Amino acid sequence: MQDNAYLKCIDPQCGLEYAIKSGILECRKGHLLDVKYKKNPSRALKELFYSRRNPQGSIFNESGVWRFRELLNFCEIDTGNLEECSQHLVSLDGAEGRQSKPYHMSRVAEFLEIPNDNLLLQPEGYNPSGSFKDNGMAAAVTHAKLVNAKKIVCASTGNTSAAAGMYAANENMECDVYIPAGQIAPGKLSQAYQFGAQIIEVDGNFDDAFSKSLEDAKKYGGYTVNSINPFRIEGQKTIPFRALENQNWEAPDWIVYPGGALGNTSSCGKCLIELYEWGWIKKIPRIAVVNAEGASTLYDLYNGKFEETKLRWNKGRPDIELIQRYYAFLDKKGIRPKTKATAIQIGRPSNILKGLRALDFTNGVVTQVSDSEMLDGMSIVGLNGFDCEMASGSVPAGIRKLIQEEIIKKDDVVIGILTGRQKDAMLPVDYHNNPNNRFAIPPKQ
Ligand code: F0G
Repeated sequence: MQDNAYLKCIDPQCGLEYAIKSGILECRKGHLLDVKYKKNPSRALKELFYSRRNPQGSIFNESGVWRFRELLNFCEIDTGNLEECSQHLVSLDGAEGRQSKPYHMSRVAEFLEIPNDNLLLQPEGYNPSGSFKDNGMAAAVTHAKLVNAKKIVCASTGNTSAAAGMYAANENMECDVYIPAGQIAPGKLSQAYQFGAQIIEVDGNFDDAFSKSLEDAKKYGGYTVNSINPFRIEGQKTIPFRALENQNWEAPDWIVYPGGALGNTSSCGKCLIELYEWGWIKKIPRIAVVNAEGASTLYDLYNGKFEETKLRWNKGRPDIELIQRYYAFLDKKGIRPKTKATAIQIGRPSNILKGLRALDFTNGVVTQVSDSEMLDGMSIVGLNGFDCEMASGSVPAGIRKLIQEEIIKKDDVVIGILTGRQKDAMLPVDYHNNPNNRFAIPPKQ
């Protein structure tokens, strides 16, 4: 089987196509690309995926990413042939996505005032590098190898660099990571060092680091593994695959994500568009994206908080000038994204257009929460025996807000994605040492 998979520009007015092996990651007109598949996969695969939960000695069955390999077979390999799988597929010994699936967390449900049965939270922090990024990185590094890339490059608020560094080390590749100096959690920075990545400190924020990394990747020949990379998006589709499989492929009413660069939102949207087109799901869950109040580009534009016009996908003709006016306004006023949840301290979400497409397809909503709401969200997850970072705390906080606004109804089934585990050790210590915090359990003398 050849040429089932190809790349296509997401802009319907452009629609340029590229071969998977071309090594191209962005359309030459500057737009984002999708991985497309010509053939519709058979629904019988659901049984196969389930049966692989007994991995029978294969790391590609154990992996929560490659267990679904027929749905992201951009390498066009014989997915039943384990030798061929090991030649192509990059996996950290089957660990990516292996342990992340939705769980009930009764104390969170109580806090949100919805029935425990209706709330599921999926801790992606259980990935080997501690965040959801491993799902996409396994796929992106697979493609990097396919096109013989020697060096992978990313900008990061910390988790992407940890995942990139980990896979690069495991595959014996070089890895350059561009980080906003002084603005990433110490636990994340130390991972990049630990895995032997070359750190490039950029004096600025994530958006500045990202521009610089793209420039340098072009100049010196690096393979970009940020979420503009369409193969990252393919790998991250397995997050909703696992959530839906857990529900016997019965769609919930809502899937909720934090919003940063909007790679997750984009991949969830693509996953749902595909599953719906293939007839695997009948109902389309609504996506809710939660921004931090201090980094609320999508919230502002989607809800008409900047100008009255609400930014929409608009059948592939979004109002790009509105986005540009917003960025120009931020620059003019010197407004920089600012939140303690540094993972999502992002002002210019590079996947905004794919994000809009996802929201359009799913009749999605965008909300925003404060730092203190995120800390409460993070802490109530902890009190259930699960560990998540502050940016992931936006998910329970956002669900709570949407329930209070009666956008999420009390009998709706909600799946929230807890994107990463705690890597900022002092945040919970500081939270619990302040008795004014809602869930604080201060130490005794
Ligand atoms: N949650 C966590 C824990 C993250 O690390 C990120 C992004 C997000 C949410 C936002 O996800 O970009 O798909 O909307 N972290 C990136 C990084 C930017 O560099 O680690 P998104």
